Amino acid sequence: MRRLAPQTEEAVRARIGYFRDLGIFDFYRRDCASGETSLADEPELELAAEEAAPESPTMPRAAGPVPSLSILEERGAPVAPKDKTAALEAIREELRDCQRCPLAKLGRHTIVFGDGDANARLMFVGEGPGADEDAQGLPFVGRAGQLLNNMIAAMGLKREEVYIANIVKCRPPQNRVPEPEEAHTCSPFLFRQIDVIRPEVIVALGSTAATYLLGAKSPLAGLRGRVHSFHGSKLIVTYHPAYLLRDPNQKKAAWADLQIAMRELGLKKSS
Ligand code: URA
Repeated sequence: MRRLAPQTEEAVRARIGYFRDLGIFDFYRRDCASGETSLADEPELELAAEEAAPESPTMPRAAGPVPSLSILEERGAPVAPKDKTAALEAIREELRDCQRCPLAKLGRHTIVFGDGDANARLMFVGEGPGADEDAQGLPFVGRAGQLLNNMIAAMGLKREEVYIANIVKCRPPQNRVPEPEEAHTCSPFLFRQIDVIRPEVIVALGSTAATYLLGAKSPLAGLRGRVHSFHGSKLIVTYHPAYLLRDPNQKKAAWADLQIAMRELGLKKSS
């Protein structure tokens, strides 16, 4: 693989950053005539795309193309706070009546894009919409959502101050876990939302969120209690609120995880 000349690389980065500021996020690769170096030859770009969805026996990659060539994963081109809402809307607009994965035809009524402050310092990522979310088009509005609201309030924050989204934006039938193909097809849109919002801290709610944000499946117990990273944000893993509703004994452990998030955000513990 040939590298771009340093000045060309710099110019390409600047140009992509400029397009990103305009709300344009998709870049498609085109083969160049021999002797020229294409974006596809850029090792860092290929690595970034691989990192978004690594191949593993438990997480097969989706068959189709990755929706965006994510040079943006390097976070080289910040979006100005005033432009973040527009940048998120551009992603929402691109999804339209999404038919990219099987969930589109498995009974979903609404695409649950995500909700909250585009400039949030804290973001929560769940698994996928349930029946209430599918009906209302908003994440975490059912029983698990009420518990999440309480968790957010316990941190001293308002729901409107954080951003909430899911690994998949359409309801899996019978609330089953999203299939790898569905998660790999949908999650790049979530990653782009994260790249726009750039939260300081992301809290992964449950195993599905942790698996697809960290790029590997591992037992939740081994992931909790530590600070991971995702696209430059600190990533903390905790139990899914639906699991806490089934096993309230784990709420204490979840609160310990949220306190790690609070520490990273410099939020004071309430007495
Ligand atoms: N469970 C999730 O993972 N996400 C929601 O939005 C609601 C319930």
